[in-house]
Amino acid sequence: MKINTVGVVGCGAMGAGIAQVSAQAGYHVVVSEINDALLKRGLGIIENILAKDVGKQKITQADKDAVQARIKGTTEMKDFAVCDIIVEAVIENMSLKRDVFGKLDKICPPHTILASNTSCLSILDVSTATARPDKVLGIHFFNPVPVMKLVELVKTLTTGDETFAAGKVFAESLGKTAVISKDAPGFVVNRLLVPQLLSAVRMLEQGVASKEDIDAGMRLGLNHPIGPFALIDLVGIDVICFIARSVYEETKDAQFIIPNQMNKMLAAGWLGRKTGKGFYEYNK
Ligand code: 3HC
Repeated sequence: MKINTVGVVGCGAMGAGIAQVSAQAGYHVVVSEINDALLKRGLGIIENILAKDVGKQKITQADKDAVQARIKGTTEMKDFAVCDIIVEAVIENMSLKRDVFGKLDKICPPHTILASNTSCLSILDVSTATARPDKVLGIHFFNPVPVMKLVELVKTLTTGDETFAAGKVFAESLGKTAVISKDAPGFVVNRLLVPQLLSAVRMLEQGVASKEDIDAGMRLGLNHPIGPFALIDLVGIDVICFIARSVYEETKDAQFIIPNQMNKMLAAGWLGRKTGKGFYEYNK
């Protein structure tokens, strides 16, 4: 199957990254947001990253212009009708995702593949909002999308072999390496990562070590690029709590119980880098 045009629903940090890497791989891209202000902000994320890359001479100004010319921003779902594959990257809410998939199913031609970038939700549950569950799979990117080499490909009970093969070819065409996961809560990486992040918070609560020392321990002792508290701030406390809660609901695995301090930070709106304050403080 030939992919010419890629759709990305949602232009937050993940959607913007997916749109950017798709356009850089040569695809035409349609990327949406729910209103003009959020669309402007999302396209601004792409503009900033590309401008930095020009400044570092990683790409030329002409490359940047060509990439941006391939990206069409929209607030209209009907504009996805021209897409061969669409990656949904809206907020983590099953009923919202099902609503998006149901609408895309009606708008798009029969060949269009519908993928979800969900970090932990059941792809099968999303796919049943469509009349084409054989054309639905999970393509889970990592943050920051332009930097991280991994995608998780998620095959449900009903994902067709051709759909899955096309998803793999697409992911690899973006320069990513795919690992394959069953449609299990948290897939591979978050299933392992999130308990570790929550353990770090419990260790902090128990006074085992400071957050700075826990972070330094994991950086210098294990060569992780950043420690668990810096990573929670990067991903977002809201996102980590959502994943923990939804994997816990499915598995009842006590490793996914959210530590008290994180619940309090969530309630206070200390979500990490995106709000300027999480475990650390940031200049917004
Ligand atoms: N977009 C594009 N490029 C970015 C970027 C962004 N948001 N942030 C950083 N970069 C690039 C920089 O431009 C720089 O490129 P260069 O080496 O070519 O100049 C390179 O990444 C390194 O950036 P910095 O020098 O600014 O900073 P660091 O060396 O600290 O790297 C980092 C930043 C790449 C984010 C690094 O800290 C890292 O790899 N952290 C771990 C990230 C991680 O684990 N991500 C997975 C999170 S889990 C997840 O996403 C799953 C989800 O479901 C929750």
